[in-house]
Amino acid sequence: MYKFNDYKVLITGSARGIGFAIARSFASSGATVLIMDISAEAVEAAVAKLSSEGFQAFGYTGNVTDSAAMEELFATIAKEHGKLDCLINNAGVTRDNLMLRMKEEDWQLVLDINLKGTFICTQKAFKLMMKQRKGSIINIASVIGIMGNAGQANYAASKGGMIAFTKSCAKEFASRNVRVNAIAPGFIETEMTATLPPEVRAEYAKVIPLSQMGSPEDVAKLCIFLASEDSSYITGQTIAVDGGLTMH
Ligand SMILES: NC(=O)c1ccc[n+]([C@@H]2O[C@H](COP(=O)([O-])OP(=O)(O)OC[C@H]3O[C@@H](n4cnc5c(N)ncnc54)[C@H](O)[C@@H]3O)[C@@H](O)[C@H]2O)c1
Repeated sequence: MYKFNDYKVLITGSARGIGFAIARSFASSGATVLIMDISAEAVEAAVAKLSSEGFQAFGYTGNVTDSAAMEELFATIAKEHGKLDCLINNAGVTRDNLMLRMKEEDWQLVLDINLKGTFICTQKAFKLMMKQRKGSIINIASVIGIMGNAGQANYAASKGGMIAFTKSCAKEFASRNVRVNAIAPGFIETEMTATLPPEVRAEYAKVIPLSQMGSPEDVAKLCIFLASEDSSYITGQTIAVDGGLTMH
């Protein structure tokens, strides 16, 4: 339905899970996808998978918390691809624990990867996009950043931070025609949620109006819309893909 010809999209943390599904959706719509993740092997495998399906995919290994490495990555992208149309800040981790047991290093790690990583990549992408006078930045937050969750204070703070960050950047970047939106996925079937015990899944299903977990493709479909011209008057929004779990 959407055609992304001559369109370059960088997706952080895209060697697997939601990020990979986003990459595949863009690639199948004609975009050139730039896969970035922390493990070189996983990046290579993801690029090989997309290339074997006939898609345009390039791989980059890096850690979103490493500002100098990201500076180099964005310079390489500018050199090799000439532009960047869309950045998707998707890399993210959890280190769950109840507050009284939460270690400071687990607080810091989650804030560093999910929130600081988003700041670092957004700043570098905006430098390219402001010169182009066009761009779309999509931050993959979470419903947990809206409603909180016992045992996830660090994750909730990072994702709530991403939502507030999205609004500030949307206001700051609007005059340069760069839009910034966030997606708040609910419970999506990936490696991140695969470890949930069956009884916890059953409990979640009970409180989700659409009665089931979502798929990575459900999130990818919204990314495609938010990157497309069909959403050209939408910025600063956080849209939930959660089967109706959060409504406001
Ligand atoms: N799965 C869900 O139910 C769900 C719900 C809401 C939000 N999310 C968010 O969606 C995003 C993707 O989640 P997922 O379920 O696909 O997780 P995942 O663990 O399957 O994938 C995350 C990817 O990010 C990469 N990554 C981690 N740290 C990185 C770093 N420092 N630099 C670069 N890459 C790094 C990992 O290697 C991995 O490939 C995350 O931001 C997550 O918080 C997921």
